[in-house]
Amino acid sequence: MRIAIGSDHAALDAKSDVVKHLASRGIEVNDLGTHDTNSCDYPDYAALVSTSVQQKESDRGILICGTGIGMSIAANRFKGIRAALCYTEELAMLSRQHNDANILCLGARTQSVSYMIPIIDKWLDTAWEGDRHARRIEKIETNSRGQDAK
Ligand code: RB5
Repeated sequence: MRIAIGSDHAALDAKSDVVKHLASRGIEVNDLGTHDTNSCDYPDYAALVSTSVQQKESDRGILICGTGIGMSIAANRFKGIRAALCYTEELAMLSRQHNDANILCLGARTQSVSYMIPIIDKWLDTAWEGDRHARRIEKIETNSRGQDAK
């Protein structure tokens, strides 16, 4: 599996630890930044990771900011992206089984790395159930009215 990962400055250290964990699992990781502690803007990294997943350069993505909220809002503006902010293993599992979430969002100011790792592992290891969920996911795209709709 190829994973694209991104964070802002608030989650730089957490991202480094998560990258190490993913590598230890034999996962191919594409770290799209940020790469230093300078203050930066989470939508820029949400865009890089979302585009990587959209273009199938990566199978899935992980985005970490202070809370995970900004990353999830930003990533979900990209067509075909289903970003899920998961604070429990159960949510991580359900986001895969029901929503086929292709980006996992986490919060480095609200979750320790040791808390995140089991959530990440559950998310990586859970398959989408398809079936009735396929119709619902299709409707996410077909019901979308676009940015300029009245
Ligand atoms: C950065 O200070 C912070 O706003 C960001 O990491 C994130 O929590 C936004 O949702």
